[in-house]
Amino acid sequence: SLLTFWNVAATAQLTVEAVPPNAVEGQDALLPAHSEGQKFYGYIWYKGSQVHESHLIIRHIIRSNITVTGPAYTGRETVYPNGSLLLQNLTLNDSGVYTLQKVDEVLQSQNVVVKLSVYQPVTQPSIQTINSTVAEDDSVTLTCLSEGHAAVSIRWLFNNEELRLTDRMKLTRNNSVLTIDPVWRADAGLYQCEVSNPVSSRKSGLFRLVVLFDPTRSPGLSGGAIAGIVVGSVAGVTLAAALAYFLYFRKTGGASDGHHLTEHKLSASNHSQGPFENHLSKVDEIAYSALNFNAQQPKSPAPASPTPAASETIYSEVKKK
Ligand SMILES: *[C@@H]1O[C@H](CO)[C@@H](O)[C@H](O)[C@H]1NC(C)=O
Ligand SMILES: *[C@@H]1O[C@H](CO)[C@@H](O)[C@H](O)[C@H]1NC(C)=O
Ligand SMILES: *[C@@H]1O[C@H](CO)[C@@H](O)[C@H](O)[C@H]1NC(C)=O
Ligand SMILES: *[C@@H]1O[C@H](CO)[C@@H](O)[C@H](O)[C@H]1NC(C)=O
Ligand SMILES: *[C@@H]1O[C@H](CO)[C@@H](O)[C@H](O)[C@H]1NC(C)=O
Ligand SMILES: *[C@@H]1O[C@H](CO)[C@@H](O)[C@H](O)[C@H]1NC(C)=O
Repeated sequence: SLLTFWNVAATAQLTVEAVPPNAVEGQDALLPAHSEGQKFYGYIWYKGSQVHESHLIIRHIIRSNITVTGPAYTGRETVYPNGSLLLQNLTLNDSGVYTLQKVDEVLQSQNVVVKLSVYQPVTQPSIQTINSTVAEDDSVTLTCLSEGHAAVSIRWLFNNEELRLTDRMKLTRNNSVLTIDPVWRADAGLYQCEVSNPVSSRKSGLFRLVVLFDPTRSPGLSGGAIAGIVVGSVAGVTLAAALAYFLYFRKTGGASDGHHLTEHKLSASNHSQGPFENHLSKVDEIAYSALNFNAQQPKSPAPASPTPAASETIYSEVKKK
């Protein structure tokens, strides 16, 4: 038949892009024929790269204005007189390549491959972690959770700016998992992840990481400033953490003479087997102390000595900040 004859004489093949090349599910895209200035006998569109009757979408003969649909026709395709194909109400399955056969007046055909990608807009991601409060030198893992099957790219923000990766940080699983090990006090702050694909991007809500640290130890990042007891701006958390440290040191006999928190020394050389060696029990201890403090505070604001003096000192230090 005439149609079989058309299929034989394929010549040079070029690839063009759909308009738009990256389309959104539910919207429309145009697969252009680029036939300006040329006279054609007809156009045949196939789904995929194979020129085969089983992949036929639509066949249009210009002069007789006859349009015939094939097995790959979904009812959402319209061929224009210039050969371009309009796809409406796109589905993700419409992604892929399409092959257009342009048949000229002497029934020579020319193939064009058109590429189309259809995406769903991304949904808002969220940050998940086991614990948003960690002790300095521990590790923390933040996971950026995003729904949907579409491939997305993920980037991380810290205090509203692009996260600058240090050698203590590791990104895995296509950037969806951020591990900081060990955590430094400078890592405390607001984290966000942003997922994007070619048609959309969304940011997660703000996630606050609180880092508990020993203020008498110089920070890993920058020496000097030990004014902050806890990096993090929630006053309640700050106070609880300060108390937690104090109670912790008192319990473990880290220092006996101090009325000021800064006098409590935790020297690495003296305490190679010190309380900071076991991270897990340390973290538990701090949390327990914090809870304990919260529970007791309303009832008995003035426990036995020497706690009151030390508490006041700590509290005023916190308020000063
Ligand atoms: C072909 O016709 C359609 C509908 O009139 C138009 O939108 C499109 O720009 C034309 N040209 C191409 C190259 O698709
Ligand atoms: C071709 O046929 C369609 C209906 O099948 C009609 O809407 C359109 O106007 C016709 N075009 C021409 C150029 O005759
Ligand atoms: C688009 O497609 C979806 C499902 O494929 C359908 O529910 C919806 O009604 C369609 N919308 C239009 C405007 O055709
Ligand atoms: C998409 O394509 C797959 C495989 O080709 C098919 O199983 C699925 O039903 C299609 N989905 C829609 C909505 O057409
Ligand atoms: C990362 O993304 C690529 C492409 O989207 C995917 O093939 C791969 O499975 C992903 N890897 C992981 C660990 O999720
Ligand atoms: C968070 O960490 C504290 C100690 O830092 C611990 O007591 C608490 O159980 C942890 N919470 C979760 C949900 O793991």
